[in-house]
Amino acid sequence: TPDAHVPRDARLIRLTGVHPFNVEAPLSALFNEGFLTSPELFYVRNHGAVPEVKDEECLDWEFSVEGLVEKPLKITLRDLLKEYNAITVPITLVCAGNRRKEQNQVRKTKGFSWGPAGVSTALWTGIALGEVIKRANPHRRARYVCMEGADKLPNGYYGTSVKMNWAMDPNRGMMLAWKMNGEMLRPDHGKPLRVVIPGQIGGRSVKWLKKLIITEGPSDNWYHIYDNRVLPTMISPEESANRPDIWEDERYAIYDLNTNSAIAYPAHDEQLSVACAPSNYRVKGYAYGGGGRRITRVEVSLDKGKSWQLANIDYAEDKYRDATEQDLYGGRLDMSWRESCFCWCFWELDIPVDELKVAKDILVRAMDESMNLQPRDMYWSVLGMMNNPWYRVVVTFEN
Ligand code: MTE
Repeated sequence: TPDAHVPRDARLIRLTGVHPFNVEAPLSALFNEGFLTSPELFYVRNHGAVPEVKDEECLDWEFSVEGLVEKPLKITLRDLLKEYNAITVPITLVCAGNRRKEQNQVRKTKGFSWGPAGVSTALWTGIALGEVIKRANPHRRARYVCMEGADKLPNGYYGTSVKMNWAMDPNRGMMLAWKMNGEMLRPDHGKPLRVVIPGQIGGRSVKWLKKLIITEGPSDNWYHIYDNRVLPTMISPEESANRPDIWEDERYAIYDLNTNSAIAYPAHDEQLSVACAPSNYRVKGYAYGGGGRRITRVEVSLDKGKSWQLANIDYAEDKYRDATEQDLYGGRLDMSWRESCFCWCFWELDIPVDELKVAKDILVRAMDESMNLQPRDMYWSVLGMMNNPWYRVVVTFEN
């Protein structure tokens, strides 16, 4: 395959054929790693072949800042390291297709079946996106930042855009990163340079960054228009094929993540053994919100949603927040956006085994600080994205 140069972990589960590489870890393995995901188990979403960049070529990697700017720039990674203050921050990335498998079971979408492990967290080292754009002196008409990667795909280079005022707002934490968890990016994750957009769907975080184009309108890149959208639910795969007008409607583009959660333990369809079970079973999982909003509650139901119990939440991200400023993995830890939550949190709840035996299935839902609550019902759409209804696992007991 074209990716012969890329090392990969055998534990990762392939979601598409041999190429391109799209994988998630088994949920239990991902969860057991804790707050930070190792690069080996970090989910991968590649639309095509991974650009090959040798170690000795990394510092010479060059990207441009062009479009509606007074001073177009060409910047190498070497320049970035020399001229800007590096920051290091924990950020969770989530693919908009996370949990799509459940949608495909209801009605086939145009996307492949992600389980609930299309989510991972790393400490990212890089510089604020806004700092770079500022140096190019954007025109007053500038409203969007288009980004383009080096991966050449059937419909051109991978590209998308975000709003200019978001990119310029330090509280939104958008960055250009060259390290994850203290080491140079791995090839699958954008080596040597990528964009990281916190709180938004992973599809906006362009890997192998080659171009920042400042524009008046949103990106006209094929992948911006025909990917990462939630079209109205009545649009069928057949109809969508003849409706460029609907695809091009920027209102259906998705940015902030929606509230979501999943149960890691017990696993779906796991058989619990009664004999060695303690009197309580500790149900555990993750939750995340979008746009920097904190998850304010996680609730578990054993009676199909009639009543709910409050789970305990561990916000591991806050440990970094409390560290104010320190040297971390070669960058200054900077939580200047410290009021925001850009990472997943973990929750747990002890449930008497006797109750589990009666219930047979466990439901979880999360709510964020704006009271965005996970819905009971699924919102199906043709690309199968942002799936976030109550998460359910079924357990059985061996006698
Ligand atoms: N950037 C480029 N250049 N090419 C891609 O295929 N995939 C996007 C985004 N950036 C993609 C890209 C999508 S859909 C996601 S979810 C994230 O990268 C995944 O990042 P990861 O593979 O590092 O987890």
